[in-house]
Amino acid sequence: MSEQQWDLVIRDAKIYDGSGSPAVDGDLALQGEKIAAVGTVEGKASREIIARGLAVAPGFIDVHSHDDFPVLATPDMDFKTMQGVTTDVVGNCGFGAAPFDAAFAMLGLESGRRALPKWETYPGYLDAIDRNPPSLNVAVLVGHGTIRQAAMGKEKREPTANELATMRACLREALDAGAVGLSTGLVYEPGRYARTEEIVALAREMTSTGGLYASHMRNEGGGLLDSIRETIHIGEAAGVPVQISHHKASGAENFGKVRESLRLIEEARSRGLDVTADQYPYTAGSTSLFAVVQNGAFAEGKGGMGRVPAEKILFASTPKHPEHEGKTLKQLCDEWSMTALAAAERVLAEEGQAAFVVMESMDEADVRTVMRHPSTMIGSDGISAGSRPHPRLYGTFPRVIGRYARDAGLLTIEQAIHRMSGFPAKKFHLANRGLIRAGYFADLVVFDPARIIDVGTYEDPRRYPAGINHVFVNGTEVARDGAHTGARPGRAIRRS
Ligand code: ZN
Ligand code: CU
Repeated sequence: MSEQQWDLVIRDAKIYDGSGSPAVDGDLALQGEKIAAVGTVEGKASREIIARGLAVAPGFIDVHSHDDFPVLATPDMDFKTMQGVTTDVVGNCGFGAAPFDAAFAMLGLESGRRALPKWETYPGYLDAIDRNPPSLNVAVLVGHGTIRQAAMGKEKREPTANELATMRACLREALDAGAVGLSTGLVYEPGRYARTEEIVALAREMTSTGGLYASHMRNEGGGLLDSIRETIHIGEAAGVPVQISHHKASGAENFGKVRESLRLIEEARSRGLDVTADQYPYTAGSTSLFAVVQNGAFAEGKGGMGRVPAEKILFASTPKHPEHEGKTLKQLCDEWSMTALAAAERVLAEEGQAAFVVMESMDEADVRTVMRHPSTMIGSDGISAGSRPHPRLYGTFPRVIGRYARDAGLLTIEQAIHRMSGFPAKKFHLANRGLIRAGYFADLVVFDPARIIDVGTYEDPRRYPAGINHVFVNGTEVARDGAHTGARPGRAIRRS
């Protein structure tokens, strides 16, 4: 037998291949940026990792990220790569990367703005990633709010025919360049002013392209079920696959409604619609304070987030007054002798769109019901801003595997891995990724199934998870034993 020279061999690992089928013991050979052989691998390698007792899985795909600017401003992307994420889908919740000025106005995350190169269009953004590669791969959704803002500002009305044509042209240009779909954020400015017909008209631009429609729906509180119906209707009317973002029921008065929303998803699936969802594994959400106020979350709670009391709202990022970070809105109410609304408005007057909060708004039983369901994949929804970001930014994927699969037995480790690799790769058309197969890109995570867990907390969220031994992106190691290697082998992934 001829001796073959591999770049790297990972030996004696438990291989979770990303398909959901049972793990098998074996070896893996890497050559260049690809997986070259799986099974029993003979021959010499430049480097060997003896992985006895460890597991190897496809790198995790974060289908719900807000890293449009961070992938260029903080290209090591340590908060993602150190938890095993090898591909980020950016552009969620209607917030996209282009056109640049509208994107910056809406998404002006403080982190490293001076480090940003400038682009105008989606093709320009994808090129900027290829010219300034981050440590992980990036796939792109077009943000409806951003293209609407570029076409017609914050106008609270339907678009004119010309304005709609401008939005369609921008979407078409992005799809042609390889964007994977369109996202909406129907609780946010200015997406909330769009009626269903506007979104159907835009989604039709994607019919038969494979591009999908992802939505942060109009209402995740009392109006959850109507919002699910609207989202499904858009998919059926336009003939496009649907992704429901961060599937949840928000606000105590709405706990339990996910059983009904899952039933609506099942019904639509049985009619033939490809509708799936994503979820982050926590009972707290996180968003801009402006949106929380605008949706009336601590007034009557009739808006898109349900009712959230002031003691359950924690400041994540307040760059002008970092001393607020880690405090609750209730604490500021007491310090200032103000109502929740007045205190929030005072913070908004000082911080504007830069104020982000974490809010305890969900039921653990609902989180588990959604996670068990086969329509659910995993997405962090992490927002990289401030000293107290939601811990999902650092811990989402190890938490699903360690806490919910291994410790709680809610799903098998095979299923958990599938929900973060093979399943999303298929849905988002990420060719030759998401599975461990010869010929696929070597996006890989080597982890200790007995130790893998998130360790960040709401008080101390910026901590790397435990139990991640090696992370490879396109065959190059980006993380090793809890440290980033400094390598930046990522690229823009264009829809195939
Ligand atoms: Zn969202
Ligand atoms: Cu989001």
